[in-house]
Amino acid sequence: MNPVKVGLLGLGTVGGGTVKVLSRNAQEIMRRAGRGIEVVHASARDLSKPRICDTSGITLTQDPFEVVNNPELQVIVELIGGTDQARELVLRAIANGKHVVTANKALIARYGNEIFAAARDKGVMVAFEAAVAGGIPIIKAIREGLAGNRIEWLAGIINGTGNFILTEMRDKGRDFADVLAEAQRLGYAEADPTFDVEGIDAAHKLTILASIAFGIPLQFDKAYTEGISRITRQDVGYAEELGYRIKHLGIARRTEEGIELRVHPTLIPHRRLIANVDGVMNAVLVKGDAVGPTLFYGAGAGAEPTASAVVADLVDVVRTLTADPENRVPHLAFQPDALSDLPILPMEKVETAYYLRMQAQDRPGVLADVTRILADQGISIEAMLQKAPANGGDDTVPVVILTHRIRERQMNEAIRRIEALGTMAGPVMRMRLEHLTR
Ligand code: NDP
Ligand code: HSE
Repeated sequence: MNPVKVGLLGLGTVGGGTVKVLSRNAQEIMRRAGRGIEVVHASARDLSKPRICDTSGITLTQDPFEVVNNPELQVIVELIGGTDQARELVLRAIANGKHVVTANKALIARYGNEIFAAARDKGVMVAFEAAVAGGIPIIKAIREGLAGNRIEWLAGIINGTGNFILTEMRDKGRDFADVLAEAQRLGYAEADPTFDVEGIDAAHKLTILASIAFGIPLQFDKAYTEGISRITRQDVGYAEELGYRIKHLGIARRTEEGIELRVHPTLIPHRRLIANVDGVMNAVLVKGDAVGPTLFYGAGAGAEPTASAVVADLVDVVRTLTADPENRVPHLAFQPDALSDLPILPMEKVETAYYLRMQAQDRPGVLADVTRILADQGISIEAMLQKAPANGGDDTVPVVILTHRIRERQMNEAIRRIEALGTMAGPVMRMRLEHLTR
């Protein structure tokens, strides 16, 4: 049988990695897919740039629309990134009757509902395994491998750049900006790295995971998002002293009132496996009612790990080219007319434990005021740590408090009242704390 002809949009980190893997593993891929898979047309902005892959035999163009309009191609792989042009290109490819593979989580999280509807109308596939957790086949695992379960919650380290920064800061005391620059050099970071450090990239991925776990439409605008830029080396040290590790987690949980959808730095007991996932590695814990907790681990970013997921999607597309569209795996795991309208909970209704760090005046009664405020809000203290002043002349001391679980609304009110005491130097640093056992 003739090879399937593929058009590639983007020849950067992931595009280059995809061409390399397709070429190096061509025989294995053909044995699996039943047909060869050949990239014959590709686009990039600057055709004179050196590439990490061999582009001989591929027609190159600066105009990505030339690729999506090429009638010879059956599949388009979108690896440009961004949302405006990528959305237009993907919708055009679908309108032209082509299957689409993409690694673009921003595109799927924001426009996936529209894109999947267009794909269903045209009977084509849109595959996006590489959009979440790089090389870990987490979409397939939840959508297919765990299809017998009612998923209760999932929690994941789903941004490689952020985890790389936190690990290097903790282990080597390195500077935030320095490590971010290295992540950019290594091709891990997004074109706009604030997406990595402010949690937006992780929120895109969590939005996708929540939809396929719970069978709800994609609702990126309702995700609570907090990044890692406010974490200090002090916080990392205090957390360790108390037996915890700070990880940037995406958490999605089914509750009686709705779905929690939140991304933020989180303290996790250091003995948990996921607390020991370091560097660019990602991990996703998924709790199903039948299987119990499962943990998926692997490289979360980088050329070939991400290409591994892109190529797996290509193999899936090729295998199903002749299958009845009605019998394909649904985009969001559940049949489109069976999606549920469970609400996403506002952050104020979420219940979690907390780490609080405040710089308090070192005099009698100050701590009593703080603990009274916490008690007034029904907040119970798990542990407390008071450190010596940072220097001799300083009359304030760092105080760290770990609390038991409480609704975010109560904690917001407690923090508001603590900050108004007049005995605090600066705002209260708050991080959520999860034991990830239930
Ligand atoms: P890169 O910036 O390395 O590559 C982007 C490619 O797209 C480049 O070849 C660039 O051309 C081309 N391009 C950009 N804009 C245009 C345009 N307007 N017209 C034509 N070509 C264009 O990005 P990545 O490979 O890192 O990321 C690609 C996608 O994969 C993104 O959606 C990203 O979120 C996702 N992703 C990335 C991962 C990673 O580890 N890097 C992991 C998982 C997903 P030129 O090279 O000439 O500038
Ligand atoms: N910038 C992303 C990360 C790429 O660091 O995780 C993988 O999605």
